[in-house]
Amino acid sequence: MGRFRIVGINGSLRRVSINGAVIDAAVDLAPGDVVVEGYRGLADLPPFNPDIEDAAASEPVRSLRQTLAQADALVISSPEYAHGVPGVLKNALDWVVGSGELIDKPVAVFNASTRARHAWESLVETLTTMSAVVVREASITLPLDGRRPDAAALAADAAVADAIRTALASLAAAVASRR
Ligand SMILES: Cc1cc2nc3c(=O)[nH]c(=O)nc-3n(C[C@H](O)[C@H](O)[C@H](O)COP(=O)(O)O)c2cc1C
Repeated sequence: MGRFRIVGINGSLRRVSINGAVIDAAVDLAPGDVVVEGYRGLADLPPFNPDIEDAAASEPVRSLRQTLAQADALVISSPEYAHGVPGVLKNALDWVVGSGELIDKPVAVFNASTRARHAWESLVETLTTMSAVVVREASITLPLDGRRPDAAALAADAAVADAIRTALASLAAAVASRR
């Protein structure tokens, strides 16, 4: 088990997703002292409702909160939809605004497209507002526009693999510097 536990979140629910491939590649490429684990519960979360935020929160919400609480850091890779953050991802973040699992937590925000900019900026703004620590040097844009979603191919691409490895090392360093 590595010294740094990083949870990877893909903002896309597509079965064959380039952002999913990026997270899967991060799982495979994690350096020896880092473990990256993909969170796959985004589709199971109910729509956020402040009325049921606390005691009545459902199992998927409690599981999300526990997963985030146990993580040292997060990697989020998300598509842009209509210049915004996908609703399913924002929904997940809304569930932890009040419960606070992201407070002071280092987060790397990956962008798999050179065309998309608004969603990345919006995500950084939301995370910062939630008091997460967006680690800029670990927040990379990968020029994967038009690439087939294949984690093995991404891991075999020296430039992509190096960028992901370096980002994970920067994220781990940010965790270490806060301990
Ligand atoms: C409803 C919808 C809206 C989109 N809006 C944008 C957009 O505003 N800007 C952009 O760069 N790409 C946009 N895209 C393209 C997606 O960001 C792109 O297909 C991305 O690779 C999907 O990621 P995924 O493979 O992980 O699902 C949109 C796609 C969909 C389905």
